[in-house]
Amino acid sequence: MKHRRVLRAAVTVAVTGALAAGMTMALTTSANAGTTLRASAAEKGRYFGAAVATGKLSTGAYTTILNREFNSVVAENEMKWDATEPQQGRFSYTGGDRLVSHAQANGMSVRGHALLWYQQEPGWAQNMSGSALRSAMINHVTQVATHFRGKIYAWDVVNEAFADGGGGGRRDSNLQRTGNDWIEAAFRAARVADPGAKLCYNDYNTDGINAKSTGIYNMVRDFKSRGVPIDCVGFQSHLGTSLAGDYQANLQRFADLGVDVQITELDVMTGGNQANIYGAVTRACMNVSRCTGITTWGVRDCDSWRGSDNALLFDCNGNKKAAYTSVLNALNAGPGIPTDPPTDPPTDPPTDPPTDPPTDPPTVGCAASVSLNSWNGGFVATVKVTAGSAGTSGWNVGFTLPSGASVTNTWSATASGSTGTVRFANVNYNGRLGAGQVTEFGFQGTGSASGVTPTCTAS
Ligand code: G3I
Repeated sequence: MKHRRVLRAAVTVAVTGALAAGMTMALTTSANAGTTLRASAAEKGRYFGAAVATGKLSTGAYTTILNREFNSVVAENEMKWDATEPQQGRFSYTGGDRLVSHAQANGMSVRGHALLWYQQEPGWAQNMSGSALRSAMINHVTQVATHFRGKIYAWDVVNEAFADGGGGGRRDSNLQRTGNDWIEAAFRAARVADPGAKLCYNDYNTDGINAKSTGIYNMVRDFKSRGVPIDCVGFQSHLGTSLAGDYQANLQRFADLGVDVQITELDVMTGGNQANIYGAVTRACMNVSRCTGITTWGVRDCDSWRGSDNALLFDCNGNKKAAYTSVLNALNAGPGIPTDPPTDPPTDPPTDPPTDPPTDPPTVGCAASVSLNSWNGGFVATVKVTAGSAGTSGWNVGFTLPSGASVTNTWSATASGSTGTVRFANVNYNGRLGAGQVTEFGFQGTGSASGVTPTCTAS
């Protein structure tokens, strides 16, 4: 019932400017357009994900779509507190581990959802308060993030901690009653437990500039100013029949604080506007260079918590809906993530246009850059591959790892070797890049990779 109220609240935010603009926009498909959501997102350096109920992984019709279309997964329920710590101090990771294995076998990254949430607390925690609860919740964060260390691209460290309505303040809960600093305490514990994961705050009814999203914005700004480790904000985006006209502007203002943004639980009420809203949300993400990916909250309509809303991209028979085409077109038409976004705006723009057009022939090849999240004994490497001006039909990135370092897990690429000289080849959906296009892959390892430099070869 609570969620029905949320949806009704969401649909009253009926500003249709962005949608109308989206509907009149001609969606062109580039020569390098992908033909699946995962390929098209990867071509633009992003992921496209789905929430998964792990029990469905043995259903062929479900898994066929999941593996074909998505390169990121999140557990719909299996990584929540009630599932992972059903009794205090007794941890259960069966469902979460199964999802991680599936992801690793199919070139998918994993979002972790959610370390702390006032709902789906196990019964023992619901009955706790004060310092006992504070210790229990921090222990939970530490244990779960440690268990999945190195396997999670981004964690929803805290979910839905802000209240609905006009105040922009925190939601009351037993977690909140342990002290207003509970959120930052959770982020600090998560960073220590898994230094390689991006740490996100995640919430709903934040689909535009409103009191609730502004409350969260102020918290993120405060965290950044005080060095509280936060890397990203998730916008659930459980949507009704309209979309706020400032949906993209809201994502952008968070990105401007220096955090990534992600669309984390997208689903949209069925009806005439469904395809348009899906397209508008996708375009908004593509237009914000720090919007790193989109996740739909399920695969087929019949998998959705929203039941008869038919809120997803595939019907119950697994057919692609109009909304699917709208998303795919928006991914293919959107800009890629720039490799090195400028940190400062140029101070002196040139007053005269250049008189000689560039004469350089197309650059055959590619460039790769790596960013490392390292901790004592391990690391996660995120590698960006940028095509030269001739584009690529495939690429291969090599590293020489220091002795003692070893690759244990790779996503969105195929590794050969695990120690010494290790090579990573594109997978079938991210080898073909247009001129200047960027894609991303990652690997995780033990030991230290500090100082490694990639070399990129294109074909
Ligand atoms: O697994 C039991 C089953 O054994 C039992 O017979 C049945 C009886 O009710 O319940 C089953 O558990 C249900 C579970 O989903 C798995 O289907 C829970 O009752 C039910 O509460 C739970 O609902 C989940 C909900 O979060 C909990 O609040 C939904 O699947 C899940 O989609 C939803 O996801 C949330 C995100 O985590 C946060 N944002 C909102 C989103 C939608 O509500």
